[in-house]
Amino acid sequence: MKQTAHVARITATNTGLRAMFALLAAALVMFVLQNIAQAQGTERSGKDVVTGICANCHATGAQGSPKIGDKDAWSKFSKQSLSSLTAVVLKGIRQMPPHGANMKLTDTEIKRAVTYMVNQSGGHWIEPTSRTKPAAPRTGQQIVAAQCSKCHEKGLNGAPKIGDRDAWVPRLKDGLDPVVRSAINGHGGMPARGGMANLTDAEMREAITYMFNKGRVPEKAAK
Ligand code: HEC
Ligand code: HEC
Repeated sequence: MKQTAHVARITATNTGLRAMFALLAAALVMFVLQNIAQAQGTERSGKDVVTGICANCHATGAQGSPKIGDKDAWSKFSKQSLSSLTAVVLKGIRQMPPHGANMKLTDTEIKRAVTYMVNQSGGHWIEPTSRTKPAAPRTGQQIVAAQCSKCHEKGLNGAPKIGDRDAWVPRLKDGLDPVVRSAINGHGGMPARGGMANLTDAEMREAITYMFNKGRVPEKAAK
């Protein structure tokens, strides 16, 4: 009799514990799902923003706006940096309303929209990632393939060629740091951050190291 009561108590405790764990697990799943939804839901892609908002004028070139797909009209903008173009959009210019007439847009959404329009019009920019969900850093190889090779592959306008040690060694005579800084600021035919506004300083360093070492040091596999 005593024994049965004991067993019953243990079973009751176990059931209680199990129920508690089940509740905890459910709460955890809810929490994770909510965070995923937030990370995905808060910031729209450039395409969505453009289709929903900017296209109202830019699809047809209404009021003298540069038309999406008009390479000539956009070429002068795509030479600017993403941050300077974004600043114009935030502030507005002449017939272009501040924020593209939508104050709810985040800076990242505007940057993405600008990038999308530039890319629809002959550009090759990379859409910035949401700060609510940071992207995995890109390898030097990926960055060079996506951007720097446009000029550094063939040595356009005197750009030091990828893997050409003779061209790179004199530039690196004072070490990597001053060259990284100089490439971030840009000079001569070298645009600021190599024309890739969302490149972090660490990524810039990786890209330069990759261009210096190409063909001599075994390549790291792209992540
Ligand atoms: C109500 C119409 C309208 C909407 C909506 C609009 N634009 Fe514009 N946009 C214009 C006009 C007009 C110009 C040309 C301004 C000028 O140079 O006189 C312009 C110019 C621009 C430029 C070139 C800036 C420069 O330096 O001259 C960019 C970039 C741009 N818009 C981005 C956007 C983005 C991104 C959106 C959506 C978030 C957007 N626009 C929504 C009318 C619009
Ligand atoms: C539009 C063409 C262009 C693109 C794109 C470009 N570069 Fe350059 N880059 C140049 C030119 C031209 C020079 C030589 C500038 C000079 O010495 O006056 C240069 C020089 C450099 C230098 C040497 C700087 C110095 O002070 O000696 C570095 C480092 C560099 N680029 C890195 C990069 C990286 C990294 C990328 C990609 C993220 C990139 N570049 C993309 C054209 C470009």
